[in-house]
Amino acid sequence: MTAAALPTRSIRFVYPDDMDPLWSRRRPEFACAANSVSLLMPYVEPYVVKSVRAALPDLDEDLRAQARAYLDQEKAHHVQHRRLNDLLTRRYPRLQRLERLMRRTFAWLGRRRSPAFNLAFAAGFETVAYSSARWTDKHLRELFAGAHPLPATLFLWHLAEEVEHKSVAYDVQRATGGKRLTYALGMVVSMLLLAGFSVAGTLVMLREEGLLFSPRAHARLLKWSVSFVFELFPTMLVSALPGHHPSMLADPPFLGRWLESLDPATGTMPAWSMDFLEP
Ligand SMILES: [Fe+2]
Ligand SMILES: [Fe+2]
Repeated sequence: MTAAALPTRSIRFVYPDDMDPLWSRRRPEFACAANSVSLLMPYVEPYVVKSVRAALPDLDEDLRAQARAYLDQEKAHHVQHRRLNDLLTRRYPRLQRLERLMRRTFAWLGRRRSPAFNLAFAAGFETVAYSSARWTDKHLRELFAGAHPLPATLFLWHLAEEVEHKSVAYDVQRATGGKRLTYALGMVVSMLLLAGFSVAGTLVMLREEGLLFSPRAHARLLKWSVSFVFELFPTMLVSALPGHHPSMLADPPFLGRWLESLDPATGTMPAWSMDFLEP
């Protein structure tokens, strides 16, 4: 992929103050799970950005240009998630404790781990993000039918760009002499941290919404978790094998097509609607 093929989109989401943070009444437990991922983004993505930015002087011109475009995409992601997170922490103040733990965790990693590990984490995080996009692409109808279009657009735009830049952090890690084993370790650590924080955030929100003991909510979450594991683990395994490159991973069919509906003049995405799934 060339630098020109990785665009920077100026997208800004403005949520009405009275928007329901439980933005899918049909699948409220999915809204809780997705919100918990959103909560994490302003902590994990700046760590990833710093890790890749630190390697810029060591890259050749072409890869440096790609890495810069990648960094611009990542910075836009967590800025837009923060707006949603402001709504979430107002509605669920208990999330603030979890946010403090997220802040401390990623600040600690950035301070205490080696540049090689930090880059491996960034590359591994991208593999997990790519798998999340592919899993979501397969479950769009179930997850997003009846959802509020603004948060749905935020998540789908973010995931579509995760697919678009799936190779860049990996290329940076390898170009700076990073080992595949370190990449595999970074992938496992990022998966464990994302999973742990996502479960914790989801439980806080389920509790606040009176769904903590809802068998239906837990049955759906379990079903989605199992199917996600079947998406993620084979991708992680194959990615750890010698000779594998993220460009070998097939892009999900819908998300890339949907990105093409961005209006370049205004830099806006059309709000999500189920009509996009119609042929
Ligand atoms: Fe991102
Ligand atoms: Fe990413």
